[in-house]
Amino acid sequence: MKLAILIARAIFPDVIERLSVYFDVEANQQDIVFSQQELAEKLQGKSGVLCTSSARFDATLLTRLPMLKAVANMAVGYDNVDLAACTAQGILVSNTPDVLNETTADFGWTLLMATARRVTESEHWLRAGHWDKWRYDYFLGADIHGSTLGIIGMGRIGQAIARRSMGFDMQVLYHNRTSLTPEQEVRANNARYVSKEALLSEADHVMLVLPYSATTHHTIDKAELALMKPTATLVNLARGGIVNDLALIDALRSKAIAAAGLDVFENEPKFHPDFLTLNNVVLTPHIASASESTRFAMANRAADNLIAALQNQRPPNLLNPEVVA
Ligand code: GLV
Repeated sequence: MKLAILIARAIFPDVIERLSVYFDVEANQQDIVFSQQELAEKLQGKSGVLCTSSARFDATLLTRLPMLKAVANMAVGYDNVDLAACTAQGILVSNTPDVLNETTADFGWTLLMATARRVTESEHWLRAGHWDKWRYDYFLGADIHGSTLGIIGMGRIGQAIARRSMGFDMQVLYHNRTSLTPEQEVRANNARYVSKEALLSEADHVMLVLPYSATTHHTIDKAELALMKPTATLVNLARGGIVNDLALIDALRSKAIAAAGLDVFENEPKFHPDFLTLNNVVLTPHIASASESTRFAMANRAADNLIAALQNQRPPNLLNPEVVA
């Protein structure tokens, strides 16, 4: 008899077909975002789940799921999963790193360019019919080339972003839990490790690419924003909660910093409505990894992890190897 699994959100039909070879699959192609109660009900009798960050696997939910053996999260970030509680219950947890590094780095640059060169703001103005003539001072922005890029969170995505800065003749500063090896620093456009404070005060453009956790909550708050240059831009493509959005709204409104590009928000998708009142912010709906081929690769990687976990093999991206040991 096949084991039963839940695919908690809509996904590529090919991946459902692939998983159906191995499992009795309950899919959710209507893409309902299940409440905790609905998740608990849907997961009764299931051995595994393929989920996204909208599903919160906390200790309360897990105690209701004694049969669950595997959580395959289709994301590199896994702050939606209580890893310690899963480990205590013998549940194998996996994520989808690497396959999204380059696409996410591309999008970091997309947001940075759009923010520093005021792309969406000027397009809205044009669409509203305001374009009457060329003027020397319409939509003056900040240069990318020759500027200093500060990257907070220098993992694989951060390094891919840094590599792309070579073509723009930029200086790269970074701050991370641990410093890179000298070889890694050279490949990351000779990135230089500095304190968070030095990075914030020296960088022309600051990019946030660090994972979210209790320790990184509000890494960028009022005090940090106050250190930044008034001409600086801030890009967050990591997770909501890394920035205090209220403090950022204040800084953007008072022009304490020039502009921000945001792909993630506190309480998304219900982000703070005041962002919509500001011209100096570029807003995108958590799409940094959203190229066709990368999302397909992520879905298949999550499927690989789930198949391995439920066939007593080590999932390629196992996050809690203690369970296997
Ligand atoms: C997307 O946000 C991810 O963590 O993969």
